[in-house]
Amino acid sequence: MRRKLVVGNWKMYGRLATNQALLQGVLEGVRELRDADYAVCVPYPYLSQAQSMLQGSNVAWGAQNLSPQEEGAFTGAVAPGMLTDFACSYVIIGHSERRGLFHESNEIASAKFAAAQKAGLKPIFCVGETLVERESGITEQVVATQLDAVLVRFGAQALKEAVIAYEPVWAIGTGKTASPDQAQAVHAFIRQRVAQHDAQVAQGLCILYGGSVKAGNAAELFGMPDIDGGLIGGASLVSDDFVAICRAAQK
Ligand code: PGA
Repeated sequence: MRRKLVVGNWKMYGRLATNQALLQGVLEGVRELRDADYAVCVPYPYLSQAQSMLQGSNVAWGAQNLSPQEEGAFTGAVAPGMLTDFACSYVIIGHSERRGLFHESNEIASAKFAAAQKAGLKPIFCVGETLVERESGITEQVVATQLDAVLVRFGAQALKEAVIAYEPVWAIGTGKTASPDQAQAVHAFIRQRVAQHDAQVAQGLCILYGGSVKAGNAAELFGMPDIDGGLIGGASLVSDDFVAICRAAQK
């Protein structure tokens, strides 16, 4: 049985004071939960705050992006080793907002994936189609191309220490969740594609669903056979909502 994982993606939200209350609420809410894993991916400036509040707890932390370079004259960029300095476990790679708003290609996403793993960080590698792509019937083709940027390039073994997040772009921040059946179909497709390379890795692979996961729909989504948890945006900013989603992963 795969262990479920729930990850908060704070995006560019938060301030020291509000983070303190949010993290406190999450810590208290999930303290007794033992059957799943939890993490929050926070903005870079708050990694130190996350580390000092979460160390020793059952909530891990991570970042939302990183530079593929180890160091150098890259103004504004953050190196993988800087994230490990703050004991990050995870880093989100290739989120659709990075791909869309910051023009990150599959090539860049795969370089970041490799850089993360080299530094000992677990990438949460995001894939997902836009509404136009879904309506054109090319969802699997789009997801396959995004997945292959790591699967074909680095081999299935690289996915042993990684997480995949399926996030249909049309469901992110829109309140429109993929139905459990719609999400399950793509998750099964991803697992089966990995299985073509390595059945054992595919069986153990954690595939998160992301896109308007809420307290009210989490249990149904997490109940699908190939959905191993969630990547949570908006609802991760309200401790009661995030805790309710974490609880749904217990069942
Ligand atoms: P959402 O965001 O839960 O607000 O839709 C999910 C994500 O972008 O990771």
